[in-house]
Amino acid sequence: MFMYEMPTRLYFGKDCIAQSGQELCRLGKKALLVTGRHSAKINGSQKAMTEHLETLGIAWVLFDEVENNPSIETVRKAAALGKAEGVDFVIGIGGGSPMDAAKVIALLCTNELDDAALFTGPYVRPLPIVTVPTTSGTGSEVTKVGVLTNPHIGTKQSVNTPLIFPAVSFADPAFTESVNPVVTVDTAIDALSHAIEGYMSKKATPMSDVWAEEAMRFLGVHLTELDGASLSYAVREDLMYGAVLAGMVIAQTGTTLVHGMGYQLTYYKGLTHGRANGILLPHYMSLMEETMADKVEKVWEILGLSGLADFTACIKNLMPDTVCLTDAELAEYTALTMPMGAVTSTAYDVTEAVVKEMYQSLEH
Ligand SMILES: [Fe+2]
Repeated sequence: MFMYEMPTRLYFGKDCIAQSGQELCRLGKKALLVTGRHSAKINGSQKAMTEHLETLGIAWVLFDEVENNPSIETVRKAAALGKAEGVDFVIGIGGGSPMDAAKVIALLCTNELDDAALFTGPYVRPLPIVTVPTTSGTGSEVTKVGVLTNPHIGTKQSVNTPLIFPAVSFADPAFTESVNPVVTVDTAIDALSHAIEGYMSKKATPMSDVWAEEAMRFLGVHLTELDGASLSYAVREDLMYGAVLAGMVIAQTGTTLVHGMGYQLTYYKGLTHGRANGILLPHYMSLMEETMADKVEKVWEILGLSGLADFTACIKNLMPDTVCLTDAELAEYTALTMPMGAVTSTAYDVTEAVVKEMYQSLEH
């Protein structure tokens, strides 16, 4: 038995916001726009959305204070604005952080939740959510997860409920044209990680595998050209398509050990989300070779790689970072990782020793 759920209405392609007709009118008369401080203003996404809203006669207010890896404090502040302004729906524009924040803000507009209940529920229906990705990576535009930093537990934590599936998503690859080469690499590898982890997850289904293979196909052909080159629109389009498909995968399967362990590297070591995942991927694949050899072979075939050594070299070329952890850090990060659902979904007997060894693989 498996269940497939993908309730988000997706518009994909250049100028898709302007071409979406009356779509947003069904969501209400006033929107809260949620963005980071700068990029939505630079890449044209905020302007495209506000012009469209004005054409439709939909009022809007802006909250543009979402930081990377958003905090509980930030989403509470934005939700207070949304409630005071009486908004009908929430539009998250940006990378994973503004979109994740928008989902939780929409939830907080209709739910009274303390910091613990925020992550557990129960929840009543949030305001409708609209997402506009401006990087090709997170997949948040089509998932039911919002990740926040939670200082109470000392790492990142997910709000995870089907109620926060976006109602509508507008994926316009043109918004990624101003993304710098480093962020392009980090986000593309995050997307690749979603596709691979979803494909390897214990929760993989025949339908999620279809999207995972297709995502790997679209991302894989560009792996060798990500490094520093200015990318054509056609490549940007492939990367965004691959990232959206990979998002649809993790909307079914969730992530696995790579993401679970990566959160600690972001929270404590300041690595970007995509980089934290990317540098963990080669060791993860060595584990998967023991338990899912057939699928690993399929991954190499789709990515056009000869095997693990080839993959490791490819990742190392894009992400030469190393991380050396003290014994105390190793113990702490391992203890934070072990209870995560991402560990349970991993198709491997994940013990503390396995996690420590994987962290130690980052020393070289
Ligand atoms: Fe991710």
